[in-house]
Amino acid sequence: MAPTMTVDVHVAPDARRTALEADVRSGLLAEQKTLPPIWFYDERGSLLFDEITRLPEYYLTRAERSILDRHAGAIVELGGADTLVELGSGTSEKTRLLLDAMAAGGRLRRFVPFDVSEEVLRLAADDITKTYGIEVTAVVGDFHRHLGEIPRSGRRLVAFLGSTIGNLTPAERSRFLTDLDESMVFHDRLLLGTDLVKDRRRLLAAYDDDAGVTAEFNRNVLLVLNHELGAHFDPSAFEHVALWDEEHRWIEMRLRSRSDQIIEIEQLGLHVAFEAGEDLRTEISAKLTAGQVERELGEAGFVVERSWTDPAGDFLLTLARTYC
Ligand code: SAH
Ligand code: TRP
Repeated sequence: MAPTMTVDVHVAPDARRTALEADVRSGLLAEQKTLPPIWFYDERGSLLFDEITRLPEYYLTRAERSILDRHAGAIVELGGADTLVELGSGTSEKTRLLLDAMAAGGRLRRFVPFDVSEEVLRLAADDITKTYGIEVTAVVGDFHRHLGEIPRSGRRLVAFLGSTIGNLTPAERSRFLTDLDESMVFHDRLLLGTDLVKDRRRLLAAYDDDAGVTAEFNRNVLLVLNHELGAHFDPSAFEHVALWDEEHRWIEMRLRSRSDQIIEIEQLGLHVAFEAGEDLRTEISAKLTAGQVERELGEAGFVVERSWTDPAGDFLLTLARTYC
């Protein structure tokens, strides 16, 4: 069959806008101000994230790639998949190791990248269509709401890499895994990438690099609000803060107001007051243990088949199937 690429868009501009407005109202008017991470990833945000993955301090991407380098063959063998689905796919760079392994086994038929960031998704999907000569069905959606829009045909390997699951709160994580489990059948497999608990200095450095790229990425969410809602944030009036929450075992990213300031958000008719030193929480990045991953997967209806770490034991890839 000739290679074909389709793009299914499930976040229409007005639905996106309604969701953004709701998140900004409830998040910025709350006692502890917070914004969900989905809004980081406009085109600039996706490019900045790509830069993060190459920083010396950001070990996650290299660790996960080294596992895929060694074990992609075994991973695709165990699942026997002909269709690779990728959630939060971004540039799908590491994913090519899985596509290569599937192609080498002569089984690769279809790739389904799924992301909220349409521009980056289109570029990656287009490139993979040309390189691999396969059917690529790109889905633009929110993985909290649109898992049901993912094609069900084929034997599927559903990859969720980059420790993106760590950016969900524990409640969101459990709901997401349960929904995902319900969308899968006996021959489907889940491949989940999670960052592991480790020395806090290394963790903190990974989210507060010397070149300031993560700080720029964090502040980018303010520019998104400026562009999309006519807000008047001055990003330089906020300090990038990364801290380690020992109780929850997550990194927390915050934007700390450098002064007392009132920010107008024109299109919402809102004025939001920040005190000097007040934080806006923008992201958590949970660090798990292998036991915790297995337990949480089990609670959502999955059975772990096998897992792999890199030589340093920094990162974990887990292959699981649904009970049924
Ligand atoms: N998988 C890549 C990218 C990880 S960054 C890697 O491992 O390097 C997280 C990705 O998830 C981004 O591409 C972002 O646009 C996407 N994303 C974040 N929240 C999302 C959501 N709610 N629904 C769908 N995609 C989301
Ligand atoms: N999933 C990535 C992680 O938790 C996302 C990420 C990397 C990120 N660096 C960030 C999110 C900085 C917010 C800010 O590592």
